[in-house]
Amino acid sequence: MALNDFDLVLFGGSGDLAMRKLLPAMYARDYCKDLPETARIICVGRAEWSQEQFLQTVETSSKPHIKETPTDEHWERFLQRLVYVSVNATDVASYGALVEALRRDPAITRVYYLATPPSLFAQICDNLKATGLATPNSRVVLEKPLGRDLASAKRINAEVGKVFAEQQIYRIDHYLGKETVQNLLALRFGNILFEPLWRREWISDVQITIAEKIGVGNRLGYYDTSGALRDMLQNHLLQLLCIVAMEPPTSISPDAVRDSKLQVLRSLKRFTPTTLAQNIVRGQYRAGYVDGKPVPGYREEPDAPKHSRTETFVALKAEIDTWRWAGVPFYLRTGKRMADRLAEIVVRFKQIPHSIFHQPTSTFQPNSLVIRLQPDEGLSLNLMAKTPGDSMRLKQAELELDFREQFKAPRMEAYERLLLDVLRGQLTLFMRGDELEAAWEWVEPILNHWEQDDNSPLPYASGTWGPAASSALIGRDGLQWREEA
Ligand code: BG6
Repeated sequence: MALNDFDLVLFGGSGDLAMRKLLPAMYARDYCKDLPETARIICVGRAEWSQEQFLQTVETSSKPHIKETPTDEHWERFLQRLVYVSVNATDVASYGALVEALRRDPAITRVYYLATPPSLFAQICDNLKATGLATPNSRVVLEKPLGRDLASAKRINAEVGKVFAEQQIYRIDHYLGKETVQNLLALRFGNILFEPLWRREWISDVQITIAEKIGVGNRLGYYDTSGALRDMLQNHLLQLLCIVAMEPPTSISPDAVRDSKLQVLRSLKRFTPTTLAQNIVRGQYRAGYVDGKPVPGYREEPDAPKHSRTETFVALKAEIDTWRWAGVPFYLRTGKRMADRLAEIVVRFKQIPHSIFHQPTSTFQPNSLVIRLQPDEGLSLNLMAKTPGDSMRLKQAELELDFREQFKAPRMEAYERLLLDVLRGQLTLFMRGDELEAAWEWVEPILNHWEQDDNSPLPYASGTWGPAASSALIGRDGLQWREEA
């Protein structure tokens, strides 16, 4: 679908996200000739830079993140789309330059992308309203973190909601822009094969892991007040859980999909003080080796508080109280400085009821479907098959679908896809306000419990799969994390 002409206004336009992700994503789309001739990207920053100074920053901080190899001519054309405007986001008097820059045909699509700390969202929206820039057909994109608890998420929803209607608000979770996540929708609802089996009668358990090798890097200031639960679990992992567990939506329309996801969030079994202690493990990385290289522990990272109790790892067992999922454990896990970088969903089916072969059922690996988001994107279905030869011996075999191999189509980064969706006005892959609140509502008892808990997160050596208690959590149910099996 061709895009209408647009002005994309990036608040935080000289910041890290803009340089590393947003501008490279827009460049990639420009490179593929998706952008209209006169479309512009207006980068708003506090620094009083000239256009030349800004373009110089783009050259040094953004260009290295571009995956295409731009010709000079192409790069020049992209730079011509960029306009730098210096605005103090909290001072309405400084918005004049932005008003000037946006003096174009009001019919063109206008998007405000708030890649700023959430504490600025309300003020920016108010100022856009006061200066007449928040028009009824403009859109606003909210970058995470979308709050730090239920109350702050509600506040964001209420304050942004005073200026923009719900259908103008795009709450971004970049995991929903990943190809495999959308492929999971295709797999579940574009095939007859899986849906009849996608329930408690046939599925024994589900594991969802997002493991990273990187540490906290230069984001300590943000991360130390956030931690893995707020940074990854409340959003990315719960969104993946929703896509795995949701009831078939009536269509792919935004509200149909979001209604189904909301139902999952509302059906998550609430933790009580007792179940919290049994079903959640939090950890913090210590020094260790990643890819054979020594790395410091979290508390030794530059500027880290020496007694920080911020978790860099969480593993938990969740349950969904519905007819479809009652009794099926969903194990979620995420951590930094782990043994490998991977993001995957493992759906394990039940064991066959009886073996007709000269092999006991205990030698049969239950079927499993592995949906890989990272590092490569694909699916594997593990089945039992006969080994070649004259005896009837069965062994696990893998049916593999590598999306890149299969479709030979160029890959689109999550931000490319999501930015295109915003510009096209497609809301399906963005969170609705009630979804956001439901996710915080479920997470909040965990936050409260940890706040009152005097214990520190459990230490784990960098380059491992987290604290031993994480293996014990799933081991208690007679299971193992896939990488530890
Ligand atoms: C971000 C988190 O949302 O996701 C980061 O704030 C994390 O801490 C990142 O590193 C992971 O994203 P991806 O796409 O690299 O898995």
